[in-house]
Amino acid sequence: MNEPIPTLEAFDEASLDKAFAALEKQARESAAAMDGPEAVEAFRLEWLGRKQGRLNDVSGLWLKAAPPEAKKLLGQRFNALKATVDGLLEQALGAGPSDAALAAEAIDITLPGTQRLTGAEHPITKTLNEIVSVFAGLGFSVGVGPEVETDFYNFESMNFPPGHPARDTQDTLVIANQERRSLRDRLLLRTHTSPVQMRTMEQQPPPVRIVIPGKVHRNDAADATHSPIFHQVEGLCVDTNITFSDLKGTLDHAMKALFGSSVKTRFFPSFFPFTEPSADVQISCIFCGGKGCRKCKNSGWIELLGCGMVDPAVFAFAAEKQPAYDPKKISGFAFGMGVERIAMMKYGVSEIGQFYAGDMRFLSQFV
Ligand code: PHE
Repeated sequence: MNEPIPTLEAFDEASLDKAFAALEKQARESAAAMDGPEAVEAFRLEWLGRKQGRLNDVSGLWLKAAPPEAKKLLGQRFNALKATVDGLLEQALGAGPSDAALAAEAIDITLPGTQRLTGAEHPITKTLNEIVSVFAGLGFSVGVGPEVETDFYNFESMNFPPGHPARDTQDTLVIANQERRSLRDRLLLRTHTSPVQMRTMEQQPPPVRIVIPGKVHRNDAADATHSPIFHQVEGLCVDTNITFSDLKGTLDHAMKALFGSSVKTRFFPSFFPFTEPSADVQISCIFCGGKGCRKCKNSGWIELLGCGMVDPAVFAFAAEKQPAYDPKKISGFAFGMGVERIAMMKYGVSEIGQFYAGDMRFLSQFV
């Protein structure tokens, strides 16, 4: 804190110069000692404060006491001192960061820049989109459904009655603490995209042509070709006079579009609760051209997806909400394929886990 303003004894020019020079020196010294925003504010209050500021004291004590002939000389010096203090304050407020701070932040333009990698579609997304666009080209639309599904949509409406042994083939995780709900409303992680067949039919009367890509879950141990979470693309076509040959023609075209026009397909009897008849689709081995090799276990064929004609029992569930699904008037086919399996075939990947490991050395091969 500065000393109080001394009383001025003489008002001649020399005495005034001396008195004001002393004040200016004090102002410059305390300005030079400021070390932060708080010190700047303290300086402002000390010198320019309306009630207790030193300049206020000077004008009160000196200007008022001055004889009339000295008032002008004193006023000039007072204004000069005020301008100096204002200048010091302005400088302190406007001062940017110190040179040292600037040097620490400076950009060294000779250093190499940060390389940002261009994003690319994951091979599973890429394959999924490719499958979907083959069917989009045939006039199928695209739909999605929830991954957390009810027992009703995942199983019951797909003709897996409660307790039916076919449920064992698609064991999954169920959401905890749902005992107070009826079985049909209990939630689980869907084991296939087929429940979206029912959700679609409940929403719209026939005709339906839709493909449904999505993630599914199963209580399967992970190995080279199985993962407890994987992706499927479901297909559903319902109209009047849809036959098994429509199914065969559609899937034969899709397999040729995905794997090349020389690929052959064959339909092998199978079972799914929601299709009747059901089939597994096999394609001629893309590695050996059908001659037989290690990949196709010397059979010349590789099993790729499940399909069949929509079971009338499934239409009966749909008809509860949309009476137009009358199995006497309409018919349809459905299919479901694993995206990982198709991607592994197309790209020659032998470990399914590669898709999920996030290893850039693997992923960057698909850019
Ligand atoms: N949902 C069956 C599965 O996940 C596949 C399938 C779909 C079979 C549609 C027939 C018709 O195994």
